[in-house]
Amino acid sequence: MERIPAARPTVTDEMVEAAANALRNEKMVLGESVFKFEEAFARYTGTKHAISLSSGTNALQLTLEGLGVRGKPVITTTLSFVATANVIVQAGGVPTFCDASQADNNIEPTKVRQAIGPSTAALMPVHLFGHPCDMRSLGAIAEEKGLILIEDACQAHGAVYHGKKAGSIGHVGCFSFYPTKNMTVGGDGGMITTDDTDLAKRIAKLRDCGRVSRYVHDVIGYTSRLNSSNAAFGLVQLKHLDQWNDRRRAIARLYTGLLKDVVELTPPPMGDKDVIPVFHLYAVHCQRRDVLAQHLIDKGIECGVHYPVPIHLQPVYKDLYGFKGGEFPVAEKLSQMLLSLPIFPTMTDDQVRRVAEEIRQFYGR
Ligand SMILES: Cc1ncc(COP(=O)(O)O)c(C=O)c1O
Repeated sequence: MERIPAARPTVTDEMVEAAANALRNEKMVLGESVFKFEEAFARYTGTKHAISLSSGTNALQLTLEGLGVRGKPVITTTLSFVATANVIVQAGGVPTFCDASQADNNIEPTKVRQAIGPSTAALMPVHLFGHPCDMRSLGAIAEEKGLILIEDACQAHGAVYHGKKAGSIGHVGCFSFYPTKNMTVGGDGGMITTDDTDLAKRIAKLRDCGRVSRYVHDVIGYTSRLNSSNAAFGLVQLKHLDQWNDRRRAIARLYTGLLKDVVELTPPPMGDKDVIPVFHLYAVHCQRRDVLAQHLIDKGIECGVHYPVPIHLQPVYKDLYGFKGGEFPVAEKLSQMLLSLPIFPTMTDDQVRRVAEEIRQFYGR
């Protein structure tokens, strides 16, 4: 029985050779590939600047530090990877959660207003699973209330919202290149994108030990640089991103068609001409989720659960902030229903059909 993984990064000889070439011929950190990758990524997203970092977490944390949120609330969704909230704590801010929307799993704009207080500094939506948030509503609230709008685009490389790429819609966008993401750098890595030149300079300084010049440091910085070899790898990956995202969308359409009469399961939103998702994950809402997941695993099909525990119910957040459950009912319910089916650009139609067939059998179709 062929095993189908949940995700599989694409690694070609061209990528490996580009990385090896950078290792042999460039400075290992802040070599020329880093700046080439940043230039290409900024061009791709349509922003003035892109600054690379050593992870998506670093991208978010240094963004919040660069913006200065210490002591101030930052609003985000509780239905995300834990790093989305950790970075607020790490930057000295106060994580302020908001419930998710059943329709697209993203932060629910109608709940954002009630989370805003007099000192709220920023609103940080997450384009979860690669599906763009309702940025028109969120942008209008941010503007009215004077909040900085930060996109956690860690799962949304190449997603488009009303003609703009994810990462170019808010004040700043943050990306992760973790190996399962829509593109990787062959290891951990991250990027911020922005038109704000001062912010880009502050983040570039923070990632490089707070350096103004070789031996002069005027802020407390970090070692958060992307290695040159990873940047060279990422530069080659970026060339394939659009084609890979097209393939992800085709797989999503195939899944949705094959599962359309399975009433126990709701497929993810497919977008339209204005909202173009990139299916970092193909996450369905389904009944008897854990039993189905085990059934698929038994059949050699790996799936994921994103996320079985909303962030506010993680032990550390319960300890630190006293959450008890029931605060964000939609996210809590979704965390029991979400199942991520395998999706990756080299997945074949036959593999998609096999996954769909096992699901249909499970529900007795
Ligand atoms: C929504 C979201 N935010 C933040 C991160 C953190 O990125 P990284 O793992 O590169 O630190 C991830 C990815 O892992 C993510 O999916």
